[in-house]
Amino acid sequence: MPTDSRHRWNHNTHYYPAVLDTAPAGARTALDVGTGDGLLATDLRERVPDVTAIDSDPAVLDRARETGAEVRWVLGDVMTYPLPEEHYDLVAAVASVHHLPDLASGLRRLADLTAVGGKLVVIGLARSASISDYAMNVAGTVQHRVLARSRGFWQHTAPMEMNFPHTYAQARRIAAATLPGMIWRRLPLFRYSVTWHNQRR
Ligand SMILES: C[S@@+](CC[C@H](N)C(=O)[O-])C[C@H]1O[C@@H](n2cnc3c(N)ncnc32)[C@H](O)[C@@H]1O
Repeated sequence: MPTDSRHRWNHNTHYYPAVLDTAPAGARTALDVGTGDGLLATDLRERVPDVTAIDSDPAVLDRARETGAEVRWVLGDVMTYPLPEEHYDLVAAVASVHHLPDLASGLRRLADLTAVGGKLVVIGLARSASISDYAMNVAGTVQHRVLARSRGFWQHTAPMEMNFPHTYAQARRIAAATLPGMIWRRLPLFRYSVTWHNQRR
């Protein structure tokens, strides 16, 4: 089976095209946070010449390296590893920020890594707590059934954390307070997105 995300459908890879489309025109540098099997970083490398991918799990990072993509694979904790600040034209975190000990500090850290004029995009997971959350889950279940039947479901091999510290509403409030001007979207496949443009100067 080909190793690119187009042939490995799941609730994360489904949103990779939207993440890729967030890259500013002419982006030179990108960071994939919590890269797991490295598929997003590999896709990013087709558009961006200098891609770094970080993950704190050595085993999954070894599997990411096996993709052979020309990506700088970094073993480390995104909160503490000495990555260059205000450097990346695109910072992407798919299904990884709920692994971090504190969402506000995590988003602040990702914002600090984003170049001025660059974009930060988070595809996140949270807990359902409202009628609209549950309605979205029904839509997601239908979408999952249709797409899993036509595309198959690829189970990634990265560490998973199914304990979500925040509800969608809480995650939205924290993101709004931490990333002024961010754009929030509730996504059907049990995810949300946050997009933020670094216009700090
Ligand atoms: C659910 S997986 C998502 C993997 C991938 N982004 C995807 O789209 O399938 C979350 C990943 O985040 C990584 N991770 C968790 N905490 C991290 C941290 N503090 N720094 C870097 N990576 C981290 C985990 O090891 C895991 O590979």
